[in-house]
Order: sequence, then structure tokens, then C-alpha cells
Amino acid sequence: MNLKPLFTGLLFSIFCTTTHAQYNTLWIPDTLSGTTFNLNMRDTFVQFRTGNQTITAGINGAFWGPTLFFNQGDSVHMNVHNLLNDTTTLHWHGMHLPAVMDGGPHQTIPTGTIWQPYWKVTNNASTLWYHPHLHMKTEQQLMEGLGGFIFIRDAAEAALAIPRKYGIDDIPLALTSRSFDANNAFTNVSPYGDYMLVNGTMNPQVSLPKQFVRLRILNVELERGYNLGFSDNRTFYVIGNDGGLLDAPVSVTRVKLNVGERIEIMVDLGSDAVGSSFDLEAYNAGLPFGFPGSEPGTTGAFGSLLNNTNFKILHINVAATTTGAITTLPASLITNTYLTAADATVSRTLTVTDGTPGGPGSPGTPFYFDHTPFALGTINKTINLNTVEKWTVTNNNVFGHSFHIHDIEFKIISRSSGAVSNYESGWKDTYFLPVNESVTFVARFNDYADELHPFMYHCHMAPHEDGGLMGQFIVHDVNSVDETNNAVGDYTIFPNPASTRIYFSFTDPAMQVYYVTITNSIGRTMYMLPRPQLAPGIDVSKFAPGIYFVQLTDELTKKVITKKFVKE
Ligand code: C2O
Ligand code: CU
Repeated sequence: MNLKPLFTGLLFSIFCTTTHAQYNTLWIPDTLSGTTFNLNMRDTFVQFRTGNQTITAGINGAFWGPTLFFNQGDSVHMNVHNLLNDTTTLHWHGMHLPAVMDGGPHQTIPTGTIWQPYWKVTNNASTLWYHPHLHMKTEQQLMEGLGGFIFIRDAAEAALAIPRKYGIDDIPLALTSRSFDANNAFTNVSPYGDYMLVNGTMNPQVSLPKQFVRLRILNVELERGYNLGFSDNRTFYVIGNDGGLLDAPVSVTRVKLNVGERIEIMVDLGSDAVGSSFDLEAYNAGLPFGFPGSEPGTTGAFGSLLNNTNFKILHINVAATTTGAITTLPASLITNTYLTAADATVSRTLTVTDGTPGGPGSPGTPFYFDHTPFALGTINKTINLNTVEKWTVTNNNVFGHSFHIHDIEFKIISRSSGAVSNYESGWKDTYFLPVNESVTFVARFNDYADELHPFMYHCHMAPHEDGGLMGQFIVHDVNSVDETNNAVGDYTIFPNPASTRIYFSFTDPAMQVYYVTITNSIGRTMYMLPRPQLAPGIDVSKFAPGIYFVQLTDELTKKVITKKFVKE
């Protein structure tokens, strides 16, 4: 056997990897569709760079998670299995759903537990995402890699001639960056990473066909904002905001995207030569202090190699046109009926405070809303069901923020600095709040009232949120009858002992169940079932033999009745 060609080949590939190895193929997350979704959250590791592997966490994988496809009108059932070594939560960012299903800081999922929220999808076609939301641990768990995209489809979007082939001409791009310590562990000494990651891929490149492509871009940073554009300054077209499609495409050459925001764009590659390439870049050089990532330093508490500089996000290689290519930009998209200031019957204000004990320019202490640090036990606002409210959030502080509210999509009606850009004229759930600015939005708080479980509003920059720049609101149904004299119904579990499923029989057949939690004899939570559908029973076939406790919360009185059963 002649080893020489092999040896030369090896040398050649080493040469190539050292000179041209800067690109890795962009990972496109796997997809899950249907109406039942199994999500397994796990600690794992990734070989990001030479040397040690990096400890990460992933959902059904090693970093980040699958893209979930939901159809408007479907009822989706989630089996969220926490196999991490820590408590977590899983929040469906942008989703309109009952507060008890929302996955905020109150719906903690202990290690080893399965949480089973479900809801009817009513959002319009849009790009949402899911991520942990455990109070004071959000930054840590996001940094480890937990999260994923949700693509919602509906009939109005399906009727449009826009790119829709996932991974081919419809590309999810989750933008973030990370820093590594000497052992290759992630570090967040600074919330601004030194190395760009797109869908968890370092130095990514992607082949995109010579036609219109749709990029669904999510800023999943811990703190940095992006001023997005292309290396040849080409015009591109914003077709969607956080909550869905715009009325018509908006042409831009730059668009700012802050933490938690999504933007859908169409980019025309029809005039590019096959084999040519260009880059998606961040044009972050020279942005004013207060735009996250504009800080000058490369090291220390807010330093990063990517701060206040232009840098490459994604290398794009132009490939051959595909069959069924989209080659024209639609003149119009969908017909939105937006709320206006005149629709609002309640006005509220929120002000970003604190964070500046040493005066402007001394960052690093927590920001609060209205001098009130977030407290899990304090409800900050009560909103009456079906009310249209107008919220004005003011930031006369030292630094910009990324404001997000749960439950609803809103319409930004004004910015004190000037006109609201056309590219953020659609339904939003997150927006950038610069220094010395007030932003006003309107929203209707419909469908889901719950006296016990609140929804959150907060800054989506993870250190700010964990530090207490968050509040919570209850949606209150003024027409609900407070039946305080309603006796708690009793129930029995059968069969008992059980081997496969347990069923419930209620003394009051009208009893509504708010929550069922099943714990084992040493108190470990096995299942958390918000508003469970109990008629088909609960599967206990995988439980080890032993004694278990069912804690059932009554919807009306919120009283808990505990019963025991034996698994044989
Ligand atoms: Cu993306 Cu309160 O979250
Ligand atoms: Cu903030």
C-alpha cells in the first residue's frame, strides 16, 4: 500500500484547515410538528474549539433546541421533561396563553419532573421562541444554550408567495455570542461574548439559493444588540415583526435587533452569481453608549472583542436556484387591524430607575421599575380582562433596555425621540428602549384571566432581568363570581393500587381542576399538570412501585386536597 497520497492528502487537509477553516456549516435546528411535543432538557457538552469540550445544556440535543411548528387553531400539548441538574422553567415567548401554562418564574419544574402545559394556538403566523425563565437563573440557563424557535403557521401566511421551505429558503438564525475561560467553559464575567454563535455554530457559513430567501432572525443574546446589514449594503425587506407579518414589506439597509426581538426579512439573491458570497454583519461600530455592546473595552465586566466594532455574523454562499423559487417580492402581505391610542381605556406608566448609585457612567448595580425590585410574592399590576391599555415606559437612565411583556402582542404608537420606524410598525412583544426615551404601546388583555398566576414584564437583557428589572401582573375577570361559599369537592383515585393509569372520580362532577401535582413518598415531584384533562386518566406506568401523593388544586377556591395512591 502506498501511503504517500494519503500522507499528502492529510497534509493538504491540515493546510486547508489552518488557512480556510474559519467557517463551519450553519446548524439548522431539527423540527418537531404535530400537536404533542416532547422536550427533554439536559446538561451536555459541545466541542466548540480545540481543547476541552464546553459544558452546555440543550433541548433534545446538545445546544439550543428543535424548531416547533404550530398551526393556528391547533391545541398543542407539551411534555417538558427536566433532566437538568437544576430546577428550570420553560416560557413560550410571545405566545398568547393562560398564565398557568406560560412557563414564567412561578411555573418551576424541579429536576426529574415532567411539566405538561397545553393551550390552543391563537397567535398569527409568526416566529416565537421558548427559553428558561427561572428567576435569577435566566442568564445562566440561557448561556448554557437552552431555548428554541417556534414557527406558527396560519392560512393568511400560507396564501402568500413567500419562502417557506425550512432550512432551504426559510432559515432560522438565533444570534448570540459567548466567551470561554481557560478550560473552555462558558463565562459571563461580561454579558457580551467574544465569539459569535449562530444557532450554536461558531464561524458559520450557509449556502442559500439564488432567489428570494427568508431569514427569521432572533436576538438570543444575554445583552448585546445588533445593527444588522449585509457586507455589500444591499437593500433587504422586513416582512415580519415579533407578532407576525407586516401589512407590506419595508425596505431597509440596516435594522437594529435587541435581546428577545425577532425580525423576518426577505433578501434577494436573484442577481448574485452562483459561487459568489457575502456576509450578514453587525454594524455596531460607533453606536452611542447605551446601545448594548457599544461599550469600548475588550475585557472586564462589560468588555468583549466584539464591542463597538463591525463584525461578521454569517457567511452566505450563493447556490443554484431551487425549483419553486420565490423570485418576486409581494407588494402587500396581510391586513392587520392595529389598536390605536383611542382604543385604550386605561393608561399606565413605568419608569426605569436605580442602577446608578455613582451617577451616570457607573454601571453594574441593578435597575428597577419605579424603584421596586422584582419580588415573586408581589403583584405589581392588576389588569381587567378585555381591557385595552396604553403603557408608557420611560428611560431617563444611563443605559438602554429591551422591554418585553408576556401574554399579548402590542402596537408601538409613539417614541419620544421621533417617528416609530416602519420596520417596527407591526405586532411586537419586545422593543428597544434607548436612553432618554419614552415608548408608548397599546394592547388588549383578552381571553385569559387567572387570579393566582401572574404574567411578567421585564427587561430581556438577562443580567437586568435577573437583577430585578421585572414586574408582574394579574389579569382579573371582573365578571367572575367569587364563590367563597363553594365547598371544595372531594375526589377518589382509582384503581388503587394502580399499575398503568390512575383515574379520578369527583363528588361534585362540576368541579374544575386548576392543577395536579404528583410527588413520590420522599417528596420529589414527578408530574406537574396545569388544568389537566383528567378523563383519559394519568399515565403512571413508568413510576417505580411505591406510594405516591396527588395534590389537586380546586379552580374556584384554589384549595389543595391531597390523596395517596399505590403504584404496584
Ligand atoms: Cu422571553 Cu419573560 O421572556
Ligand atoms: Cu435592561
